[in-house]
Formats: sequence, structure tokens, C-alpha cells
Amino acid sequence: MSHNLLKGKRGIITGALDENSIAWKVAEKAHQEGATFVLTNAPIAMRMGEIKKLAESTNSQIIPADATNVDELTNLFTQSQQVLGGKIDFVLHSIGMSVNIRKNIPYPELNYDYFNKGIDVSALSFHKMLAVAKKLDAISEWGSVVALTYMAAQRTYPFYTDMADIKAMLESIARSFGYHYGLDKKVRINTVSQSPTKTTAGTGIKGFGDFYDYADKIAPLGNASAESCADFCIAMFSDLTKMVTMQNIFHDGGYSTTGVSAEVMNKLAEK
Ligand SMILES: NC(=O)c1ccc[n+]([C@@H]2O[C@H](COP(=O)([O-])OP(=O)(O)OC[C@H]3O[C@@H](n4cnc5c(N)ncnc54)[C@H](O)[C@@H]3O)[C@@H](O)[C@H]2O)c1
Repeated sequence: MSHNLLKGKRGIITGALDENSIAWKVAEKAHQEGATFVLTNAPIAMRMGEIKKLAESTNSQIIPADATNVDELTNLFTQSQQVLGGKIDFVLHSIGMSVNIRKNIPYPELNYDYFNKGIDVSALSFHKMLAVAKKLDAISEWGSVVALTYMAAQRTYPFYTDMADIKAMLESIARSFGYHYGLDKKVRINTVSQSPTKTTAGTGIKGFGDFYDYADKIAPLGNASAESCADFCIAMFSDLTKMVTMQNIFHDGGYSTTGVSAEVMNKLAEK
């Protein structure tokens, strides 16, 4: 059901790799809600070809850009305004990658080249994107930018290794840039801290399946799905959340403020 929440709005959506991606669901919902947008991903992800299906079903164009490359981001924001016919009203940063996680390297033994790569791809890319957009004056007043994050930025999850530190940086960039961009152009910048979600990035984390079940049993509402995360992102892009900026908002079914659930206690008592 559409509420036309994004009618007439123009956007850029990063990170749709396949139909499990959170960004994929955001694109589908943004289309339903009346937005027009450009899809983008790293050129290497394009080769898998899945994104073309999404572009067809949402009637959108694809502009490849490696989010670590300022020139490619400049091209993305310049071309997107031309393709969409005006300034950008919303941007989704849905980009995460850690080589240390992929290679199962424990936190105390992190490889620093991989760590730097993870920082560049998953956190600095957000700063670069915002800096390019601001320099080009590419985002309209009251525009809304959302980046996806995870609660390991606040609490320790041993298997999340360097991404915990990287997400803390991402959330900090939202606050710091949110101040400057808000003051100058009333652009708002927030992070949405999502439940564990079964995507390529999510399931790449060691022990993800067990952790997914654990979080689901702790959260009074259960884990938030990718679809519900997309709904929330749409609300954040809409004019109904105009005064929300520089926040990290938990979208996790109540997990982050629940100490323990009766279900988990009962399971432990069974042993
Ligand atoms: N899946 C989860 O459990 C979960 C939970 C909380 C937050 N998140 C966050 O949600 C976001 C989206 O992840 P997802 O779970 O949908 O997984 P996903 O694997 O579908 O998406 C990650 C995307 O990042 C893109 N990417 C990687 N390097 C890039 C680069 N250099 N330039 C441009 N794009 C690049 C990938 O191509 C991919 O499309 C990430 O920031 C992730 O950390 C995921």
C-alpha cells in the first residue's frame, strides 16, 4: 500500500547487491512511495548483474561508483541530478565491508591494511559522499541522508571485530556532518541501527545464524526484517521526520534496551 510519502522526491540509493540487500527493499519501497532515484554500487558488484533487474522494476538508472573514490562520487552526484532533473532529496548509504571479518581474523590480531580498507569503504565513504554532495550543493534543503549501522558501535560483539570501531566512526560522521550540513543547508543526517539481517554482508559474519536467533529471542518484537527497515528509511526520507537529525536510531524490535528475556533465561535453566 502506498502513502505517496516520497511523491516527487529524487534520491540516490547505494548498496543494492541482490534481493536480500536492505537497499534493495528500500528501492522497492521508495518506488512504491512515488520517488524517482538512481541506483549505484561499486563497479565490481555490477558485474553480478542482479541490480539491472531492480533498475527495470523500479524504472531507475544505474550509475556505478566506488564509494571510496571521490571522482566517481562527484560523477554520481552530478549525473544523478541530470538524470533526475534536479537536486537530490534523499540518499541511502548502505555500504559495509570488512576483509578482517571475511578472513575470520580475531579482533586482537587485526590486519591493519584490511582495517584501513574497511574504514575507507564503510565509514570514510560516508564522509566523502557528504563532502561531494555539499561541494556540489547537490542535496535540496530539508533533504535527508541515512546510513545503516549496527549496535556493535555501542556494545561489544566479539565476532564483529573491526566493523564495531568502523560503525562507531560512521555514526560519529553522521553527527559531525549533520551539524555542518544542517546549519548551512538544513540537510539532515542520521544513522539507522538495524537488527541482524540475513544479507550477503550479514551472513558473512562468523556465527551469524546463532546470533540472529539469540537477538530474535531477546527483542520483545523479534528481529526487525529488511522490509521493515526499508519502511523506516522511507519515513526518515519523508517530510514527516523533518526535525530529526544527527541521531543514531535503533530499529531493532527493542533489542538494544532489553537486558535479558524470559525466553533466554528459560533456555539457560533447561541445561
Ligand atoms: N545485515 C545485517 O545484519 C546488518 C545489520 C545492521 C546494519 N547493516 C548494514 O547495512 C548495510 C547494507 O548491508 P546489507 O546487510 O544489506 O548487505 P549487502 O551485502 O547486501 O550490502 C552491502 C553493499 O555494500 C556494497 N559495497 C561494498 N564495497 C563498496 C564500495 N567500495 N563502493 C560502493 N559499494 C560498496 C556492496 O556491493 C553491497 O551492495 C551495511 O552498512 C551493513 O553494515 C547490516
